[in-house]
Order: sequence, then structure tokens, then C-alpha cells
Amino acid sequence: MKRLLLVVVGVATLTSFTATAQSPTPARAAAKAPTFAKDVAPIMFNKCANCHRPGEVAPMALLSYEDARPWAKAIKSKVVAREMPPWGADMTETLPMRNDVSLTQKEIDTIAAWVDGGAVKGNMADMPAVPSLASGWTYGTEPDAVLEMPVEFDIPAEGEVGVQMFYSKVPWSEDRFAEVVELHPSNRSVLHHAGIYFVDLPEGTRLVNGRIVDENGKVISDRGSRGLPSTDSGLPGSSKLLSWVPGRGLDRHRPNIGKRIPAGKYVSWQMHYNPTGTPQKDRTKLGIWFNKVPVTHEVLIRQAGDPLATTKGGLSIYRAEGRETEYKADPGSTRRSRTTPNIPPYAENWKLTGITPVTEDITLYAMSPHMHLRGKSLKWVVTYPDGREQVILNVPKFDFNWQFNYELAEPLKIPAGSKISGIGVYDNSVRNKWNPGPQLEVYWSEQSWDEMYQPFTEYSVDSQDLTILKPVTQQRQ
Ligand code: HEC
Repeated sequence: MKRLLLVVVGVATLTSFTATAQSPTPARAAAKAPTFAKDVAPIMFNKCANCHRPGEVAPMALLSYEDARPWAKAIKSKVVAREMPPWGADMTETLPMRNDVSLTQKEIDTIAAWVDGGAVKGNMADMPAVPSLASGWTYGTEPDAVLEMPVEFDIPAEGEVGVQMFYSKVPWSEDRFAEVVELHPSNRSVLHHAGIYFVDLPEGTRLVNGRIVDENGKVISDRGSRGLPSTDSGLPGSSKLLSWVPGRGLDRHRPNIGKRIPAGKYVSWQMHYNPTGTPQKDRTKLGIWFNKVPVTHEVLIRQAGDPLATTKGGLSIYRAEGRETEYKADPGSTRRSRTTPNIPPYAENWKLTGITPVTEDITLYAMSPHMHLRGKSLKWVVTYPDGREQVILNVPKFDFNWQFNYELAEPLKIPAGSKISGIGVYDNSVRNKWNPGPQLEVYWSEQSWDEMYQPFTEYSVDSQDLTILKPVTQQRQ
């Protein structure tokens, strides 16, 4: 490198001696380097601004030259190392994703050359318009409707706070479909994860301050770690709306494919808070953007390993190290009878595979991995009826801090008779820097020091056509 530099200097010196005019000056050299206004701002507005703006997850804004200039060196090193923007999928083994924010080599080179050339501002006339992102909503525009957690919750300074269940009634008299939903905590620092589901209230109960009380006025909604079982209003997988985990909380579906928000049901807000050392408050909001064209299919959310069965049953298989569990898919049921063995102490590459039978033709839209601190990798593989295998998503280094929802650029048709496998690997060894206790046997539960195996898949069933059902709905009104 040093030698190369000397040669370049040598040539420059030679040139300035031999050429009679126009010897290269620093100003001229810099003029050739990319500028912020012309070359770098478009990349940053596209690929960084969503997180790097006031009130968002990243520590500093990158919306102007003045924002970015002090960070130039750090920006170069983070983008060259491909640590920024964060993205967990190995794209050499993953189908193209429409929300892939990773930089092209050309973009990386442009940023590096900008920094090396003195991180100059350039001509403001070249600067693209600063993206107008509605504050608070990653999606960028104001939602059509906002539902709010029924009460503000006080998170104590210390201790273990069990998962909190709040409930509120769906405020519409007919089902509506959401093209986009986003969960937005008012206090991101205390939220560990959250899930939004639809449930029915048990008979004889009512809501008081967002909690379920029985005839005697006794609060019953905190019973069990999962609260009320979610209830599908039709096809299995319709009862879950979305999850919030670090890196995720925005689900974008397609113009004619939406998530059903069923009238008459109750929104179940399952909130898991982690105390931070000082008392905190949170009141999370749910932003909804309705589909703008007629919805033909509804999005269903299930885990690989859980039956995607719709009207037909199927046999799901869980293959854990040294043990295989099979269970029958009960059409319409979300109950799970899986008995997954615990992860033994010090196990380094402990594998758990859930195999889902696809019993009807489906279309797959998105996938997202959820594991905890021992989660090491997660891979989705489709096995087609003819035996052909296709890796559709590989997250080789699972990172609890970045659990993206990977949205396929092109929806994938998966015919009946296929299988979807979610291959998870866990690291309970001392090598795992996040491991809170390698000497411990790890159980399957909600807390970070326990484990989870949730390779979520978002799909729809091809035979469903909601436009055909419409006249029936209209008759009922
Ligand atoms: C999905 C959200 C997200 C996106 C997109 C993103 N960042 Fe970040 N960035 C973060 C977060 C959160 C941090 C702080 C934690 C960390 O370093 O991981 C961070 C940290 C950084 C840092 C280190 C700051 C420090 O304290 O040293 C740099 C530099 C950076 N980002 C640059 C970029 C650039 C340049 C882009 C776009 C090309 C980008 N980021 C895209 C979320 C994001």
C-alpha cells in the first residue's frame, strides 16, 4: 500500500514537472472524489435514514452533511466491514428480499472514496430532497388508524416483570384488512418484546382498565404466561397480527394481500418489559394502514414446524438432537403438543428442526427468525414434492438485536405436498459471548435466559378468494 502511494506521488511530481500547466492541486483531487450532496446523500437517505434520524433506534441522525461529517471515519469502517446497515441474511443463499438494505459494493466504494477524499460537502444543488418520514412511524406516513394500549403501564426499576396482558376491543363493526401494521412503543428502552393477537373474552368476564375481570371483579388476565389463547377467525394463523422485537415491528404486506382485523374480537397486547434500573412507563401504539384495493387473500402467520394445514390435517415433525417428536396437525387448532427436549449444558451446536407439511397450495411472503441469547443460526428450506430442496432464507449468525422480517421480493408459490423446514442451531457453550449461563440446562420459555424457537412464516392459502366471499358479507349486513 505504502509503495503504491509512493508511486502515485512520484507520478504526480513528475507530471507537475513536465506539464507546463494544470498541475494537480488538492482542490482538483478533491473535486474528483465523491461528494456528500451528489453521491453519498442518496445512499444515506435510502439505506440509513430510517434508523438514523431523531427519535429512532440509531444513536445519531444521518440526514444532512452536518449530521454525517463528524462520523465520516466511523461510517467508512462500519460500511466497509458490512456491519452497517445491519442485515442478517446471507444473500448468497437467500432469495432476493425487497427490504434488503445491505449496500452494493459500488455504494460501499462510493462512501469509502468520499471519506478518503476528505468527506467534502459538494454542491447543495445536487442534494436530493431529505426524506419526509412521519416521526414515530418507520413506515414513513401517518397511519389510517391508530390503536393504543388501553392503559399506560408502570415498569418498576428492578425485578422480573412477568409478561403483561392487556386487552382492548377491535373498534370496528366489520372485519378490515391491513396492508401495513406497525407497533410503536412509547418507551423503546424497556420493551423486550411484544406480540399482538386476537382473542375472545371468556364468558361472564369484562374489561376493566384493559384487564379481564370475572363476575366477582377479580382480575384474571394475568393467569398463565401466555394469557388467553388467541382465536383464529377462520384459517389457522389468522389470530396473530405481529410481533415487536429489536429490529422488527413493521409488517408490510401487499396491495391486495392483507392481515384481517376481525370485528368482535379483542386485541391482546402481550407486552414483555425488562426493568432498566429506573422506573419507566410505556403505552405502545399500533399503527394501521388499510389495503387500498380489494383484498383477495389474507396473510396467515405460523411457525415452520407448526402445521400450515388449513382444511386438511397434517403431520408435523420436530427433530431435536437425539429425539424426534411427531404430532398431528389438528385443522383449525393453534394448540401445540410438542415436547421439545431442553438444551443440555455446554452444548455447542444443538440442532432443532421443525418440519411443516404444506397440505394445500400456498404463497409465501415473508419470514422472521425469533430465538434468544443461545440462538446461533436459523435456516428455512423448502422441499418440493419432487424432492428438490431450496434454501429460501439463511440467517447464519443470528443476532438477538436484529431480528428482521425478511420480505421476499417475489412471493413464492409452494405447492401442496411440499415441506418447509426451519433448521435452528443453538450455542450453549462458553464460546457464545451472549450466553448468560453455559452450565445451565435451557428451558423453552419467554425470558431471555430461556430459549425460543420461532421461525415465523407469513403466507396465504391460494384457494381462498376473499372477493368471492364479499356478496355473502353484504347479504349479512
Ligand atoms: C436498521 C437500523 C439501522 C440502519 C438501516 C443503519 N443503522 Fe447505523 N446504527 C444503528 C444502530 C441501532 C446503531 C447503534 C448500535 C450499533 O452500533 O449496533 C448504529 C450505529 C452506527 C454507527 C456507529 C456509531 C458509533 O457510535 O460509533 C455508524 C457509523 C452507523 N451506524 C452508520 C450507518 C450507515 C452509514 C448506515 C447506512 C448505510 C446505517 N448505519 C444504517 C441502526 C441502523
